[in-house]
Formats: sequence, C-alpha cells, structure tokens
Amino acid sequence: MRFRRPFFSVYSRVYDYLWDNSLTGVLADTIVQELGGIEGTILEVGNGSGLVTRRMVDAGLDVVASEPDPAMRSRFSGRLTGVVCEPWPLEEARSIDGGYGAVVAVNVVHMMDDAAAAVEAMRRLVADNALVVVATPGAQTSVSSVVRTMRELGASRVRRFGFVLVHLLLMPLSVLTNAGVPRDIHAAWITPPERASSVLGITDICVWEHPSSSD
Ligand SMILES: C[S@@+](CC[C@H](N)C(=O)[O-])C[C@H]1O[C@@H](n2cnc3c(N)ncnc32)[C@H](O)[C@@H]1O
Repeated sequence: MRFRRPFFSVYSRVYDYLWDNSLTGVLADTIVQELGGIEGTILEVGNGSGLVTRRMVDAGLDVVASEPDPAMRSRFSGRLTGVVCEPWPLEEARSIDGGYGAVVAVNVVHMMDDAAAAVEAMRRLVADNALVVVATPGAQTSVSSVVRTMRELGASRVRRFGFVLVHLLLMPLSVLTNAGVPRDIHAAWITPPERASSVLGITDICVWEHPSSSD
C-alpha cells in the first residue's frame, strides 16, 4: 500500500489541469448519489486536490479528508477552507468513536501495491451498516478512452491534446516509481462488493456494506 511520493509530488502540480472537468463532475455526482442517506462522518481517503470532496461538501455531507501528499493537501486547503484534511496515508488512517458512516476512495486504490488489502483496511474503519465506496479505472480504461469520453462531454481539442501530452511525459515517472495501473484489481477483492457499476464506461464503482452478508 506504499505511498509513492516522487510520483504524486509531480502529479499534484498538473492534477487540476487534467481532471477538473465535466468527466470528474459526473463521477463526483455518482459518488454523492451512492452516499445518499448516510448518517455520520465520511472519511475520504486520498482526496487529492478535493475535486470530489467539494461535491460531497456541497451536498451537505460531513467529510473528513485524508491525503498523504503535501502538495495535494495545500491545493485542497485552498479549495475547501473549512474541511479538515489529515496527512494520513490509508495505512495510518484513524477511526472515530463508533466508526465512520462511510469511507470513500476515488481513483486511489488502483495505485496501491495491494488494492484488496486497501479495501479490507477501509472496511475496518466504518461503523456497522456503513458503506465503503471505491472508484477505480475500469479494466479497459486507457488514456485514449478517457480522451474520447472528454470529447463526448465537450472538452476542447487543446485540452484533450494537453491531457495526452502530460500523460506521455508522466509515463516514465509512473513506471520508475511503480505507480502504474494494475489491470484487473476486481478479481483480487477478498470480500466481493455488494454492488458494482460503471460511470461513463471508464470508472468502476464498487460498494461494500459492512458487515456484509459474507462476513
Ligand atoms: C489519482 S489521485 C485521486 C485524487 C482524488 N481522489 C480525485 O479523485 O480527484 C490519487 C490520490 O491518492 C493519494 N494516495 C496515494 N497513495 C495513497 C495511500 N497509500 N493512502 C492514501 N492516499 C494515497 C495520492 O496522493 C493522490 O492524491
């Protein structure tokens, strides 16, 4: 589950340019829908610059954020002044009395050494009858499928070209720091999710209820 600091300290500088767009907006809205009716505090793991957090906060949800990368945290604090952002990587995340109402990780666990262990760690942090919500790239997701979807959602040609160029430049660092995308993480889940769905064909959302029927 190791946190890849060299990769993320570079990635954080271009993150909003790449991802502050309508594609992330659709994903964030879907996450908010999944969390409808949740009582209690929600822990977001690896919130990055806060692109999804801001939708949760706008929807009236009580969120504690946690993000190990200092540059991402500083962008987050500029965007969401009133939201606590703890410096924890998932492996050091602390629970609260009674557990969280939900734990959410959007496009985080696929970047960890052991995505299955990450989900189990998240399940240990939630209260009874609470949810773990994990969004990851789908097995078929690629830079070109993301760019195609961006075009369908109205992103300009310049923006799409920039997206591809930045990814080409980041690729060697991603390989060197082993922060790449493993292909089939779903097959590795120790406890299967209660629900799985796809957003725009490029992001999979898995939801675990805790305790689940298989516990
Ligand atoms: C692709 S970004 C996603 C950011 C945000 N969730 C979003 O959707 O905009 C991945 C984030 O996971 C964080 N991260 C990486 N390893 C982590 C770990 N072990 N524990 C918690 N967060 C981690 C990174 O610092 C980065 O901010």
